[in-house]
Amino acid sequence: ELRHAPSSRPADLMLDEACLLANAIGLEVVHSEVIALAKLRAGSYFGKGVTERLGDLAEDFTHEIDAPVVIINTSLSPVQQRNLETQIKAKVIDRTQLILEIFGARARTSEGLLQVELAALTYQRSRLVRSWTHLERQRGGVGFLGGPGETQIESDRRQIDSRIAKIKGDLKKVARTRGLHRAARKRVPFPVVALVGYTNAGKSTLFNRITKSEVFAEDLLFATLDPTMRGVTLESGRKIILSDTVGFVSDLPTDLVAAFRATLEEVLSADLVIHVRDISHADSEAQKRDVFHVLTELGLSPKTDDNVIEVLNKTDLLGADDKARIETSAEHHDDTVALSAITGDGMDGFTAAIDGFFAAKRRIYDYTLAASEGANLAWLYAHGEVLERTDDETGTTKIRVALDPENAARYEHARAKDC
Ligand code: GTP
Repeated sequence: ELRHAPSSRPADLMLDEACLLANAIGLEVVHSEVIALAKLRAGSYFGKGVTERLGDLAEDFTHEIDAPVVIINTSLSPVQQRNLETQIKAKVIDRTQLILEIFGARARTSEGLLQVELAALTYQRSRLVRSWTHLERQRGGVGFLGGPGETQIESDRRQIDSRIAKIKGDLKKVARTRGLHRAARKRVPFPVVALVGYTNAGKSTLFNRITKSEVFAEDLLFATLDPTMRGVTLESGRKIILSDTVGFVSDLPTDLVAAFRATLEEVLSADLVIHVRDISHADSEAQKRDVFHVLTELGLSPKTDDNVIEVLNKTDLLGADDKARIETSAEHHDDTVALSAITGDGMDGFTAAIDGFFAAKRRIYDYTLAASEGANLAWLYAHGEVLERTDDETGTTKIRVALDPENAARYEHARAKDC
C-alpha cells in the first residue's frame, strides 16, 4: 500500500490511517510507503520510475499472497486507475473505493446498506460515463455510432440506472419505516445517546463495554431497534438508548457524503451526543476539528450546543504525566471525561456524566392522579424523583415530581391520549 499525501495532515499519519482502514476490511498490509511526487501525471498518476518499482514490488508479493491489492490513498481518475492496473499488474483501488468498502462492511441497517450501494453505483456510473467520453474522444468524437464497446457501456449504464431507480424507491420505503420506528421509540420514554468520533477512536469498544456490563430489562421494547442501538440502565437506574455510529474520516470523498450522512441520521435526533476521541493519537486535535466540521455540516454545532460530552479515550496509552494532566483538565469540565474503554478505568465518571447531564435538566412538575392511575404513578416513580405526595380518602394522589422535560412531555402526551 502506498499513498500520496494530499492535505493538511502529516503524510505518515495519513498512511497509518489508510493501513488501519485496510485492516478493518480484512486486508493484511504487507508493505506501505509515502511517495513524494514532484508532479502528478494525468495518464497514470505516477511517473514511469515509480510505476515500474510498484510493479516489481507487486510481483515479489505474488509469491506470498494470492491477490495483491495496491491502495493509492488519493482520488484516481478512471484512466489513471486502469493504466496503473495495466502497468503494475495488480488490482488498484483508490481512497473512495477503500472507504466504500468500509461503509459496505460496516453498514448494519438496511438503510445504510442501500445508501452505500447507491453511492457505489453512482460512482461506477460516473466511471462508465467518463470512460465512455474518453472512448468517444479516441474515436474522433460524436457521430461514430455502433461498435461493441459502446453497446456494452450503454447496456451497463441502463442496468445501473434501473438498479439506482430501484434502490431510490427502496430507500423511500425504508425511510418511512424508520420514521415509524422513531415515532415508536419516542413513546418509549428513554433518551437516545449517540456515540460519534473519528475512525479508530474507540466508539465500538466503549459501546460494547457499556452494553455488556449494564443490563436493560425492557429488551422487548427494543425489538425494532437496529443492532447499533441498545438499551442501557445506568447505575442510578436511569435508562437510556445508546447508539453507535460509523467512524469519521478526513477528506471524505464528496461522492460518499450522502451515504455517510444516512448512517449519522440517528445523531440528529439524539438527546445527547458523546464525542469519543483517541487522546493518545498524535493527530487528535485535527481529528476533533474534522468531526466538528462534519457535525456542523449536519446542523449540529458542538461548540455552542450544550448536548455534547467529550470522552478522552485511551488514557492507558499515555505516559503518567500526560495522563495526570488530561485527567485533571477533564475534572474541571462537566462535559469532559477521561477514560480507557479497554481497561475500564474512568468508566464510573463516564456514566455519572451522562446521568448528570439528564439530571441537570430536570424540572419540578405537579400532577394530580385518580385512583385508577396506578400505572401512571408507578411510571412517575420509575422515571422521576418524587419530592412530595399526598393521598386523599377518594384515592386521588397529588404528587410533586422532578422530571426530565422530555419525560414530562412524554407523560403528559400519553396521559392526554388515555383520557
Ligand atoms: P471505527 O469503527 O473505525 O469508527 O472505530 P471505533 O471508534 O469504533 O474504534 P474501535 O472501538 O473499533 O477501536 C479501535 C481500536 O482501538 C481497537 O483496536 C481497540 O482495541 C482500540 N481501543 C479502543 N479503546 C481503547 C483504549 O481505551 N485503550 C487502548 N489501548 N486501545 C483502545
